Amino acid sequence: MSEVVQVERHGDVALIKVDNPPVNALGLAVRAGLLRALREAEADAAVRAVVLVCAGRTFMAGADIKEFGKPPRAPSLPEVVEAIEASAKPSVTVIHGTALGGGLEVALACHYRIARADAQVGLPEVKIGLLPGAGGTQRLPRLVGVGRALDMIVSGNPVKAPQALEYGILDAIVEGDLAEAGLAYARRLLDEGRGPRRTGERQVEGDAALIAARHAEVQKRMPGLFSPLHCVAAVEAATRLPLAEGLKRERELFQECLASPQRAALIHAFFAEREAAKIAGLPADTPVREVRTAAVIGGGTMGVGIALCFANVGIPVKLLEVDDAALDRALQRARATCQASVERGSLTAEAMEKRLGLIQGVLDYAALAEVDLVIEAVFESLDVKRQVFERLDAVCKPGAILASNTSSLDLDAIAAFTRRPQDVVGLHFFSPANVMRLLEVVRGRETSAEVLASAMQLGKRLKKVAVAVGVCDGFVGNRMIFQYGRQAEFLLEEGASPAQVDSALRDFGMAMGPLAVRDLSGLDISHAIRERQRPGLKPGQTLPTVLDHLYAAGMLGQKSGAGFYLYPQGSRTPQDNPALPAMLEQAAAARGIARQPVSAEHIVERCIFALVNEAARILDEGIAQRASDIDLIFLNGYGFPAWRGGPLFHADSLGLDQVLQRIREFHQRFGAWWEPAPLLERLVAEGRRFADL
Ligand code: 3HC
Ligand code: NAI
Repeated sequence: MSEVVQVERHGDVALIKVDNPPVNALGLAVRAGLLRALREAEADAAVRAVVLVCAGRTFMAGADIKEFGKPPRAPSLPEVVEAIEASAKPSVTVIHGTALGGGLEVALACHYRIARADAQVGLPEVKIGLLPGAGGTQRLPRLVGVGRALDMIVSGNPVKAPQALEYGILDAIVEGDLAEAGLAYARRLLDEGRGPRRTGERQVEGDAALIAARHAEVQKRMPGLFSPLHCVAAVEAATRLPLAEGLKRERELFQECLASPQRAALIHAFFAEREAAKIAGLPADTPVREVRTAAVIGGGTMGVGIALCFANVGIPVKLLEVDDAALDRALQRARATCQASVERGSLTAEAMEKRLGLIQGVLDYAALAEVDLVIEAVFESLDVKRQVFERLDAVCKPGAILASNTSSLDLDAIAAFTRRPQDVVGLHFFSPANVMRLLEVVRGRETSAEVLASAMQLGKRLKKVAVAVGVCDGFVGNRMIFQYGRQAEFLLEEGASPAQVDSALRDFGMAMGPLAVRDLSGLDISHAIRERQRPGLKPGQTLPTVLDHLYAAGMLGQKSGAGFYLYPQGSRTPQDNPALPAMLEQAAAARGIARQPVSAEHIVERCIFALVNEAARILDEGIAQRASDIDLIFLNGYGFPAWRGGPLFHADSLGLDQVLQRIREFHQRFGAWWEPAPLLERLVAEGRRFADL
């Protein structure tokens, strides 16, 4: 018997135990072991029932994702699942942790399912560009109905055990030892004379109108995504085909997803997220400091969002402002944000009060003496940051982590305001901080390994995607976005309209166009950043001037009612700004060019390749550890389409030689900004990809 699957006999019940850490993925050894164990139980006349449990922290979390894209090896998961359901002896499975994907499909094939109260079940395949390919799309609708099955399969979101019980996915919720609970359940079945109960033999009621509506909704809400529509098609097949044929159709649709480039991109993103937690030179057993209480300095846009991040996961947080009025505004804003969630139905009024109760407004630094971590989110001025960090250094207990949310200032300079630079780290949240998943963890020159490891762990606790980055202007994400935004402005001056630039990039898959984003964050901020960067420009790095014209006219984006677009009467829907064309003509004249039409393809190449070229410099300088970290930053902080895997995965897919060729052409036509990054040239010369770094 293979080690990962073991069988114990308990009287007339065979207990099959899967033990394949860390998450009991259904790799080849588990599949083969399960099939063998089942066959043995079938052949043994003394065995009257089978119980299936998993060891370790979770039930089977799905197929082994690492096997996708490699040649299939028998037995396949569908084969194992079919054998379980077909068995003549009743089977019971006991779920703990998460039964996901193939894991839930195995459970659905078992004749009875029981679970611990804190377990979750789900079919998340859609999130990695697939659909449930081992009967999930055929059995789940038979068990819970078409509507609920579509909800679970198209969203990929799990449901908790009590809800799964209500849906009929589970038969009971149990406590205590998994094996004992399973054996007791099996005995009861035998005592009651109950035999196999096969989900596949149930009937499913079709609902053509519902399926058509879901199809239309997916097309509208998930544009560009390949697998969600396949999920709908597979469930639809369950409503009109007998099980065997439905399974065949599911298999075909699964294979199409498997072959799609989106599947590869989304799986890249899945592993990128796990890789990011690993930092070179930082052993996994690096000690971490526990964060039981936190404080945030500055209750503006970011400070309030950051305080909510802590409250949302149950960590008490103090929020410090300059005076009563500012503090009141901050606490009001925190309440208004939660209230909006209550109105949307995503938070109960009771949970809101509990969360807000964890945020304590304070005015005096003395209140921060005992907190484990402080995050500064005051104005973006080195002078103001100096005042704050000197005070923190004076009052905070030894060992407290002192973090800054600065988006562009030199973290090493900030650390030097204290006598404990080893305790200072950047925690760069993105706006709105309580919503955006990205957290750049900025490692200063002196940040200690312990503080870095603690910050990464905190990121996970706050349910963020934490990515370690080094110190430079804009860190990773904003440094790249400066190049991207600059190209968008150049394109306007060369002849495109804001709507053309934005729609080209939205059609590429970006969540928002770059110019609408700039209007949202404020052109005064763009202007200030640009003026700060101006002295550092290299020869030939000229700047577009459209921003100067807008700034001079007081057009600062949404907040002033006009920017690249017009926002009449506080509207948030961008309209053409009639003042812009004349400004663009002036800007073009200053560059000595005539404005002419620009194609959508050219817009995308200019903006996206500017990201790629800058990313290659960032990697060369060691500011980011690996290409997939940069992809992760763009997927979680900048609305880059997940199904393209991130800017560097996308560049690899296009072929780096093609990308470099275009960059060289742009260098010839548009000058210094396009000087090819040395790393990109090296990779192309060596026939390698970013993924090979
Ligand atoms: N296959 C291979 N490796 C997996 C895996 C899987 N299905 N799920 C997780 N892992 C690995 C991770 O890569 C990570 O490896 P590392 O330690 O070397 O980096 C390790 O297991 C632990 O994973 P997490 O860090 O994510 O641990 P968490 O405790 O935070 O989360 C989890 C656990 C909720 C199970 C999460 O890992 C998860 O969501 N996994 C993916 C689930 C999934 O997508 N299942 C469907 C697979 S497709 C399928 O089943 C097709 C079928 O229908 C035919
Ligand atoms: P903001 O202007 O909205 O808020 C700043 C707050 O700090 C104000 O409420 C002010 O009263 C308070 N403050 C100023 N001096 C203080 C002091 N000495 N002690 C206590 N409170 C003080 O600014 P915002 O946008 O929240 O930015 C804060 C920081 O976050 C800046 O460093 C900024 O660069 C950074 N950041 C901003 C992002 C954004 O999108 N707005 C994104 C990521 C980082």
